[in-house]
Amino acid sequence: MERTIFVTGGAGFIGSHVIRRFVESYPECQVVNIDALTYAGNLENLKDLENAPNYTFVRADIVNEDEMLSLFEKYRPDGVIHLAAESHVDRSITFPLDFVRTNVLGTVNLLNVARKTWNEDFEGKRFHHVSTDEVYGSLGKTGFFTEETKYDPHSPYSASKAASDHFVRAYADTYGLPVVLTNCSNNYGPNHFPEKLIPLMIHNIIHEKPLPVYGDGNYTRDWLYVVDHARAIDLVFHKGKDRECYNIGGFNEWKNIDLVRLLCKQMDEKLKKEPGTSEKLIAFVKDRPGHDLRYAIDASKINKELGWNPSVTFEEGLSKTIDWYLENKEWLENVTSGAYQEYYKEQYS
Ligand code: NAD
Ligand code: DAU
Repeated sequence: MERTIFVTGGAGFIGSHVIRRFVESYPECQVVNIDALTYAGNLENLKDLENAPNYTFVRADIVNEDEMLSLFEKYRPDGVIHLAAESHVDRSITFPLDFVRTNVLGTVNLLNVARKTWNEDFEGKRFHHVSTDEVYGSLGKTGFFTEETKYDPHSPYSASKAASDHFVRAYADTYGLPVVLTNCSNNYGPNHFPEKLIPLMIHNIIHEKPLPVYGDGNYTRDWLYVVDHARAIDLVFHKGKDRECYNIGGFNEWKNIDLVRLLCKQMDEKLKKEPGTSEKLIAFVKDRPGHDLRYAIDASKINKELGWNPSVTFEEGLSKTIDWYLENKEWLENVTSGAYQEYYKEQYS
């Protein structure tokens, strides 16, 4: 193999699409997936790549210094694409310390081990930190997040991601570590764990369960098909400038309630139900504390500098996503049995 890259969190939602893209597009590159397999990690997401000659999976915790050191020494990676994280805002409200542990301590541990192993010969090395638009806080009815927007996180999740972003920049400034950052908007697509809005609604529509919309449903998110995020990560990892940050978004804002109604409509058609059947399941429930009103990304920098644009329209992406869940009912049933039921009861009762 000509080079080796580590992808952390590769068994999760976005990580699995990044692994797929790199394993398939770069046969000369050894891709090592480092994942602790928390409730959100699922090797089923990568079953078909299991025996690919340029793919290796290692179960390990990014917070563990000894484990990370021995992996860096064994594989001598040229680059790291860091996605491993606790990623769900609602869980961060219940278990904030888990988010500090993985998102802050885990990231700093990785930065430190990369610095030590690369031993300040950073030539040809790159640490790509995958972050979120939530670090910028909330927009009012107008405006967009740019790379210059001041950080203003509101949830324990976004605060932990903001802290990790600051550490990444601090390692660049203090030690010269070659880093690049991406801050992306809401992703959707296959392999998305059904604690997040879109797959949760798909799951509940299939099972004819209530569709819990927080507050008045007028919160707005900017949705991007996950494969387009993986394409953007590939571009920035290979062509982005050192120490730069790139915002990634879908140019695709939806109020939650409108999005849920669109999902209901598409699912009624696919499941051959009377129009309006699934909408009847919508239930307005208690709001999320500290709920950010609106996210919207200005992605003109990555567009102008690297030529990236989303390639999938929302209607197309949503339709493909629903089809994937309908065709992978076993995947959905496996991840929603056991601990998920407990989580759901706690969160929505
Ligand atoms: P996810 O929750 O689906 O997956 C996270 C993965 O990290 C899982 O496979 C889990 O097992 C692994 N992991 C967790 N703790 C770990 C640890 N201590 N050591 C090793 N592995 C560990 O998350 P996702 O939605 O795929 O998000 C991936 C990254 O992208 C995160 O950093 C998230 O902040 C960021 N992000 C997500 C979105 C989104 O819409 N989902 C948008 C922008 C940015
Ligand atoms: O913006 C990027 C972020 O998007 C990522 O950094 C996070 O990892 C990812 O989880 C996502 O965060 P959100 O909080 O925006 O995603 P979630 O799917 O949890 O919620 C989307 C919107 O839907 C939000 O306004 C809350 C609302 N919602 C969510 C759930 C789970 C509901 O109304 N009902 C629900 O049951």
